[in-house]
This record gives sequence, structure tokens and C-alpha cells, in this order.
Amino acid sequence: MPSYTLKVNGQARTINVPADTPLLWALRDHLDLVGTKYGCGMGLCGACTVHLNGAAVRSCQTPVSAVGNTPVTTIEGLDPAGQHPLQKAWCDHDVPQCGYCQAGQIMTAAAFLKQNPAPTDPQIDDAMAGNLCRCGTYLRIRAAIKDASGNVSQKLSLRGDRLQPGNAAIQLDRHGGQCPPRDDKAGFATNQRVAPEGSA
Ligand code: FES
Ligand code: FES
Repeated sequence: MPSYTLKVNGQARTINVPADTPLLWALRDHLDLVGTKYGCGMGLCGACTVHLNGAAVRSCQTPVSAVGNTPVTTIEGLDPAGQHPLQKAWCDHDVPQCGYCQAGQIMTAAAFLKQNPAPTDPQIDDAMAGNLCRCGTYLRIRAAIKDASGNVSQKLSLRGDRLQPGNAAIQLDRHGGQCPPRDDKAGFATNQRVAPEGSA
């Protein structure tokens, strides 16, 4: 079995896997970096997004043999303290609902903001169009990106939205940080894994 030494989150990590192993499974199954999620496995949903040398890529479509020495950054490595401006904005805007797609959303947004630090709404929508959210958090994602970019953004009201106490298992512990506890959202900052549909 071939051996690959990947530069992941600033560390050299050696794994022995077949050459066609998707980077996603190298990260999750061999390096225990499970913040990166499996969604479609076909490059269609964005849940598996990581950075290769700062560019957002679908790790489910990236063979480990193609990575070479290119630095890989996952949600766990985006900011050592989980305090990337996007992560803070995600908390401020209560973006996640089930949380499953959010690591991929943040990684796509982080690469985008590096290229365009002051985006317009249409530019944000265009950049994020490939990242799907079955919970429909798109408006909050846009607001959080604008906030993180330094643009004025009005927080979305939670009233009438779908965020309810107990259902917002954001789980940023494995997504790269953790939102502070909120008295009105039981479970918001607990440490259980998000494990929908058999994939944790
Ligand atoms: S799991 Fe990679 S794009 Fe959906
Ligand atoms: S799939 Fe996006 S928060 Fe649930």
C-alpha cells in the first residue's frame, strides 16, 4: 500500500492508503479530522470542502495521490482557537441548525473572502451556490459572511425562523471552534457529534 505524507493543518501526517483514496476519507478515517463531512460523494454539495493551498476544493473528489506537498487546511485548522472571523460571525448570527453542512460552508466562505474581502450580496450568493444546506440557512450564511467581511450586516431575527431550543446542534468542537453557551438554546454548545444518516 502506498505511503503519503500530507501537510495537514501545519503538520506532516503520514498515511498508507490506496492512491485513489479520496482526501475526504484520508482526513476522516485515517487522521480523525471528522469536521469535514461526507454529503453526496459526487462533488455536488460542498459538505466536504477543505482548502488546498488556500483554495476551496471538494475533498470527496480529490485523490490523496494528487495532493502531494500542497498544504491542506480543514475546518479544525482554519483557526487554532476556532476564532476565525467567519466562525465568530457564524455564532453571532446563529447560522447552524443541524450543523452538518456548516464546516463546508465556512471553508468555502473563507477561501472566497480571501479573494474578495468586501463582497456584495450577489457575489456571496454566487460564491456559495455550490454549498447546499438542507436546513435552509442561506440568508444567515450571507449575513454572517457580510459581517465577517466587515460590511454592515443586520442580524436576522430568530423569531419566526426555524431555530428552536435543542435543535441547533452546531457542534463546532469538531467543526473548528465552539459557540458560547446560550441560555435559550439547550444543546447549542454540547459536545455530542452531529451524526445524521449514519455519517458522523
Ligand atoms: S461530499 Fe463532496 S461535494 Fe458532496
Ligand atoms: S444542512 Fe445546513 S445546517 Fe443543516
